[in-house]
Order: sequence, then structure tokens, then C-alpha cells
Amino acid sequence: MSAAHDTVDKEGNAVSSPVQALVLVGGKGTRLRPLTLSAPKPMLPTAGTPFLTHLLSRIREAGITDVVLGTSYQAHVFADHYGDGSALGLNLSYITEDVPLGTGGGIRNVYDALTADTILVFNGDVLGGTDIRDVLETHQSSGAEVTLHLVRVGDPRAFGCVPTDANGRVTAFLEKTQDPPTNQINAGTYVFQRSVIGEIPAGRPVSVEREVFPSILAQGRHIQAHVDDAYWRDMGTPEDFVRGSADLVRGIAPSAALAKPCGESLVLDGADVARDAVLIGGTVVGRGARIGSGARLDGAVVFDGASVEAGAVVERSIVGFDAVVGSHALVRDTVIGDRAVVGARCELLRGARVWPGVEIPDNGIRFSTDV
Ligand code: GDD
Ligand code: MG
Repeated sequence: MSAAHDTVDKEGNAVSSPVQALVLVGGKGTRLRPLTLSAPKPMLPTAGTPFLTHLLSRIREAGITDVVLGTSYQAHVFADHYGDGSALGLNLSYITEDVPLGTGGGIRNVYDALTADTILVFNGDVLGGTDIRDVLETHQSSGAEVTLHLVRVGDPRAFGCVPTDANGRVTAFLEKTQDPPTNQINAGTYVFQRSVIGEIPAGRPVSVEREVFPSILAQGRHIQAHVDDAYWRDMGTPEDFVRGSADLVRGIAPSAALAKPCGESLVLDGADVARDAVLIGGTVVGRGARIGSGARLDGAVVFDGASVEAGAVVERSIVGFDAVVGSHALVRDTVIGDRAVVGARCELLRGARVWPGVEIPDNGIRFSTDV
């Protein structure tokens, strides 16, 4: 590792300063509504633990213990669950924006709490397998002011598109462009020299993607890319949430928070699953949930206390806390809010979202006529 960002001790010897991490968790998670009406996105359960625990475990695994959560929406939920972070081997602190300041504003808002020279910043909704130490190594050896972790995806339009030159230096940052010049996208992990964070305008909403990165590049300053092919998924939509959860269960997505891959399904403590129910595709059955006789769950995420009754089929869908899927119902590519009741023989398909507590009567919604 080069000494580009090392600090110097009293005797003039180079010493590496410790790295601190900031995780941005202040978003409202609108694309995952109605689940995010009752919990912030990073706290939704995935493979038996809040999603954020997988990310925090990865940070800890990289040897980083000093972590700040940049909160806003439902800020208290994080502190209530993680406290001082000691259960995860972390020294966790919280800095809350009363009014959401955006990604750049959220980073600027924690500036006074940062003491290290090198700051890792994470979007709080990314499930990833990248070795964080490799990203830091790229940052140190290139001497850049900022380093961005990039991955390649099939359709970059929903992300920050980031072209680079032959030396891996970032040449532009194009957030959610309809006309992406490359399939390299911002994976939502950044390394900042602390001084750069101090330059972000304070006290107003700022987008790191639309304002901070483009402005650094316009000044001709050095942003380096770290590109790799490790597992990566933004969990911000129901489709991705379901896929990411299944990938964790099947061991396709690595997680230091899971003892081992579980195979085709994960049934949590106190769940009651009928012997002839079929659980496949990385299905998770939450604590105290009940799965009736002959039910078939394929890539389903069933939150704690929910029920899927006899003969029901649930595919690639999320069933919220204490919700009920009635007997012989079909639920596919759907989100069912907490405590909602989907009546017997209902059919919910392709992007349906049932709001919390709503009760759909038996046969109430169907896509076919053979009742
Ligand atoms: N503290 C704070 N304050 N956090 C925020 C705020 C805010 O005002 N707004 C969003 N966040 C957090 C979210 O909670 C999330 O963890 C992260 O910032 C990114 O916000 P998203 O809303 O999930 O952004 P995105 O998925 O549309 O796009 C971002 O992530 C992509 C990769 O996953 C961008 O960074 C893209 O460039 C990137 O490709
Ligand atoms: Mg996101």
C-alpha cells in the first residue's frame, strides 16, 4: 500500500490513520412502500435479521469498528435496535437530520463527528460481496481524493452511470441517465479524504451524485474507480428485495451475519410449517409465522407472525408482519402490507401492493373467471 494518504507521527514516521465509516440510512424507501411505512428500508428483515446487519457485519469484517449512521426517516428505530453497536463489535453513533439533507447533505452533516483522514461512505441499502479492504487499497495506491466502487449491470439507467479512462480514473458522473455511455455504475460505496467532505455545502440539501461528484470532476480533481465483479444488489425495489433475500438464503450473496447458507429455505424460530408445504427458491419464513398444508412458497419473504393458509401459492412476494394470505390464494410479484388480509382464492399478480391492515374478502380480486 502506498503512503499517499498516510499521516506522519511525531518522529516523522508514516502511520496509517484509522478509517471511519458512515452509512447513509436516512431515505424514506418509497419504492418499498407499504413495508417502509412501518420500518426504514435498512431495518426490513432479510434472512432473519435487519438488512443493515449484513452491511454492518461486512464493515466489521474489514476491520473497521468506528461507524456513524446518518439517519433521518424513523431515526429512533436504528438506535433502539443497535444501541452502541457493541453486540456487533462496533462503536456505533448516530447523527440525525431533522430535515432530510440528501446523500451529499447527509455526508456533510456528520463532518464534525469525523476524526479519521479516510472515510468510507456506504449507501445503506446495498447487499454486496466486495472486499472493502480492496476498495481502500485502490484509494490509497491511486492517491485520489475520492474513490468510487463501481459494478457493471445490464441496465444502468436506474443508477449513477460512471465512465472511466484507461487508468480507472472517473471522467463523468451521470445520475440516472436515459442514455448511459457505459454499463459501469456507482455501487454506492465511496472512500473520501475527510477534507473533501468539509467542502460540501452545509445546512442545505445536497445530492452527492448530482452535485458533489460532478463538481469535483469539473475542477479537474482526481476521483478513482474501483471496479469489480463481486456480488452486488441495491435492495430498494420489491423485485430486488425478494431476489437479494433469496440470494442470502441460498448463499449466493455472502454475509458475515449468517452462519452458513441455508439452502432452498430458511425457517426461523417459532414458525409452524405444515409437513406437506413446499418451501423453495430461497424462501424465508419469519418467527412465529404459520404455513398451512399444501401451501407452496417460491422465493417468498414471509415476515414474523404472518400466515399463509392451506393450498395458497406465494411466489417472489413479501408478506408483511402479521399479514394473512387466505387458503388457495395466488400471490405473485406482490407486496402485502403488515396485518393485511388477502381472502381465500384471491389472485394478486405483477406489482400489486396491499396497504397495511386492508382486508380483501374471499374471491375479492381475481385475474381469471373460474371461481
Ligand atoms: N442520511 C440520509 N439523508 N440518507 C439518505 C437521504 C437523506 O436525505 N436520502 C437517501 N439516503 C440514503 C438512503 O437511505 C440509501 O441508503 C442511500 O442514501 C441511497 O439512496 P437511494 O434512495 O437508495 O438511492 P438510489 O438507489 O436511487 O441511487 C443511489 O444508489 C445507487 C446504487 O445503489 C445512487 O447513489 C446511485 O448513483 C447508485 O447507483
Ligand atoms: Mg438504493
